[in-house]
Amino acid sequence: MRVVETVADFRRACGAARRPLGLVPTMGGLHAGHLALVKRSKAECATTAATIFVNPAQFGPKEDFNTYPRNLWTDLDMFESEGVDLVFTPPVEEVYPTAFDTWVNVGKVSSRLEGEARPGHFRGVATVVTKLLAIARPDRAYFGQKDAQQCLVIKQLNDDLALGAVVVIVPTVREPDGLALSSRNVNLRPDERRAAPVLYRALCLAQKMQREGTNDAEAICRAMREEVGKERLAQVDYVSISDAATLEDLERVDRPALALLAVRIGKTRLIDNIAL
Ligand code: PAJ
Repeated sequence: MRVVETVADFRRACGAARRPLGLVPTMGGLHAGHLALVKRSKAECATTAATIFVNPAQFGPKEDFNTYPRNLWTDLDMFESEGVDLVFTPPVEEVYPTAFDTWVNVGKVSSRLEGEARPGHFRGVATVVTKLLAIARPDRAYFGQKDAQQCLVIKQLNDDLALGAVVVIVPTVREPDGLALSSRNVNLRPDERRAAPVLYRALCLAQKMQREGTNDAEAICRAMREEVGKERLAQVDYVSISDAATLEDLERVDRPALALLAVRIGKTRLIDNIAL
């Protein structure tokens, strides 16, 4: 496995790679969810490149950029064990040099939900992902359904800016109790960790109601809020039933939809979603 730290080296190594080339962007703090993206790329591509970069541009001023989990050596070991060929681990100045002054703003699909709760977040995500796709020029790029809105934002910018990658969405990897794997789960205290599966319980309830014939999105959202409310440590940030393709708010579940939610457990904010 080759590890490079400069844009020039990463571009050169990707340019010389056997095709198809798969790209797996991450912020490190690796877990089995990230490795599912790698496994899918390994199955579909001759070369798999990954990136580890805690992107300051996608964190708000009061968010956890400084305390975001950073374990470069264990992360590199994990990538190496999975057979990753190339890893890009740039320092911040390599991605955002002093003169950096171009930002990618994706429209409607980035405006609601996480976009509303975290102003500037998707501008940071879209800018760094555009830059990574522009440097690596992969045939395929891998993202997790856990961050459903992020997937739609990235599909939009990849299409609109003709970056030419096939964007592949990989199903959410969960703990046995349903909690979606997340780098932030390590921040949960034991009692918070026990409370955290409430997100998945609320999502399963939404799915069950819809399967049993409830199409009223408001009724489903109310039930989800009540379910989360049963956990003393959990605080709903938002609950939504949205169009799966556009993320527009739905009144009735009459087309492919997602149930999405963001919940605070102590100081940790968790998001999750399920298809309806
Ligand atoms: P990060 O949170 O490290 O996630 C990297 C990729 O792993 C994302 O595509 C995310 O959706 C996926 N992922 C995370 N948890 C997952 C799970 N439980 N199951 C399946 N996939 C999962 O998302 C980011 O980093 C950043 O925003 C990034 C795209 C790298 C841009 O900075």
